[in-house]
Amino acid sequence: MHQDIKEILISEEQIKEKVAELGKRLSEVYKDLNPLCICVLKGAVPFMADLIRKMEIPMEMDFMAVSSYGNATTSSGVVRILKDLEASIEGRHVLIVEDIIDSGLTLSYLVEMLKGRNAASVKIATLLDKPDRRKVDLSPDYSCFTIPDAFVVGYGLDFAEKYRNLPYIGVLKEEVYQ
Ligand code: PRP
Ligand code: MN
Ligand code: MG
Repeated sequence: MHQDIKEILISEEQIKEKVAELGKRLSEVYKDLNPLCICVLKGAVPFMADLIRKMEIPMEMDFMAVSSYGNATTSSGVVRILKDLEASIEGRHVLIVEDIIDSGLTLSYLVEMLKGRNAASVKIATLLDKPDRRKVDLSPDYSCFTIPDAFVVGYGLDFAEKYRNLPYIGVLKEEVYQ
């Protein structure tokens, strides 16, 4: 275990099992719909990469980069699009892939924006859901794990851009971020 990690909240094995389960479910739901999976950079990269390889159906992927936090540690609710999609999503079945829903501000903005582009459907798949921190009424359509309000990193989630490469979800030691 990494020296900055207090405990492993979700192991590599647990992630693998849940992601495979979700991939299978999505393969049934989106069979014949050629979904467009949108990865929200950067946190969702490992989840997206593993999830799509468990979707045994035709699908496409695209990427968005948004900035909701600026330099603040808490979300302001203002979402800036840093990188937009490559193609039109009109009539497409869109699945937004996220690593975590915290306040929900990033996603509530994104969902509304993408719906406004006349997608056939816009759904959310998240690895982690932290409902205790929610500031807007938003719940994911698909979620792998509901977690308590702890400072978690790994499997895409960062603290100051570090720890994204850990293969598990770990709780960061207080002394690292205090
Ligand atoms: C984090 C996380 C989600 C978002 C969740 O991304 O990956 O995208 O915040 O927060 P919210 O529900 O309160 O809006 P971040 O902005 O840190 O960018 P990153 O993915 O590049 O780390
Ligand atoms: Mn993110
Ligand atoms: Mg981040």
